[in-house]
Amino acid sequence: MPQRIATTSLDELVRSPFVRLARLLEGIAPGASPIDLSLGEPKALIPPFLGPTLQEHLSEFGRYPPIKGIPVLRQAIADWMGRRYPLLKGRIDAETHVLPLNGSREGLFSAIFPALACKPEVKRPAVLIPNPFYQAYAAAAAASGAEPEFLPSEAKHEFLPELEVIDEVLLERAVAFYLCTPSNPQGAVASRSYLARAIALARQFDFLLFADESYSEIYSETPPPGALETAFGETESLANVVSFQSLSKRSGLPGLRSGFIAGDPEFIAAFGRFRNVACPQVPLPVQHVSAKAWSDERHVEEGRALYAKNFAAADTLLQGRYGYRRPKGSFFLWLNMAVFGGGEEAAKTLWKGCGVKVLPGTYLAQAEPDGVNPGTDYIRVALVHDPDTTSEALTRIVAILG
Ligand SMILES: Cc1ncc(COP(=O)(O)O)c(C=O)c1O
Repeated sequence: MPQRIATTSLDELVRSPFVRLARLLEGIAPGASPIDLSLGEPKALIPPFLGPTLQEHLSEFGRYPPIKGIPVLRQAIADWMGRRYPLLKGRIDAETHVLPLNGSREGLFSAIFPALACKPEVKRPAVLIPNPFYQAYAAAAAASGAEPEFLPSEAKHEFLPELEVIDEVLLERAVAFYLCTPSNPQGAVASRSYLARAIALARQFDFLLFADESYSEIYSETPPPGALETAFGETESLANVVSFQSLSKRSGLPGLRSGFIAGDPEFIAAFGRFRNVACPQVPLPVQHVSAKAWSDERHVEEGRALYAKNFAAADTLLQGRYGYRRPKGSFFLWLNMAVFGGGEEAAKTLWKGCGVKVLPGTYLAQAEPDGVNPGTDYIRVALVHDPDTTSEALTRIVAILG
């Protein structure tokens, strides 16, 4: 049964993995020209058709944008949702179901505040977080004063939290459950039936399912099922469910800072009111560019084709090593380094031996109540470069580790 961890101080919970990595590698010279596989920042693709739109709307940097977003963006998002998730076709109302975000991270962080306000009767509100996890979830819990409850997401359960063992008392206290699918760092994908069970829990215990679907467009074979289409397909309702989506991974535009939240109209309305005083609006030229990006699939397919080449290289080079398996979604590898002294040791060995920078898994997870950090044995490897650079980096890893 998941239990509350002892450490909840802001400093302990909210630590940048990248600052920790820089500290780990400080003073160690790279053994070859560096290749950075630590950061999940798409490198190879900037859709060229966005330039003219930016230019056309440049003067709008001179105006404060509406927090709700401009109709052309909200409609482009609603239309995209209908194309991507056929059950939602014609069902996403651009007016009441969608809000633009400055990238999904700020939304994942700030949405916790209205979620807390939705359940005022709870004395010790809790936030359910998979372990390992994307660090913004813990920052949200810590900053809002809710208790983060880390749910083990082990290999034997397909790297997803085991829903059936979550304590009922904890579910009563829950205000939100961050479910990352495809997941960072393991690339796990929640099936439709898993999503349906998570949604049923959210409705039974009246908390919000925060489906972080930032990697929904990065997959090898089958498009990952969506939380909203599952919710709608089961009950024709979006109650208690919101999806966070982003152009950062889908369109290879992490610097644009553009994403959205969609779903439960009551929550979207509450979040909109909160955002109107507390959160940054998305700049108007960025909204226009975003509308164009959500309306085009070609560049997304090209991106997936590039990742497919990277994964083909990984299949060839890593098969049978380090517990490698091709993830169902995302562009990360989650490799077991137990025999090399764990993730931190392996990161140092690789940097020193061949200039390849990877992220120790321990920085992406919290110790469980038994004191064991589930990321300790692992490294996360981001396959975000062009295929030649990726092959070069993986070849170097194998040359060093064997
Ligand atoms: C799981 C997950 N969610 C959300 C984000 C935030 O993405 P952005 O704010 O660029 O949309 C990231 C970024 O790496 C991520 O890995």
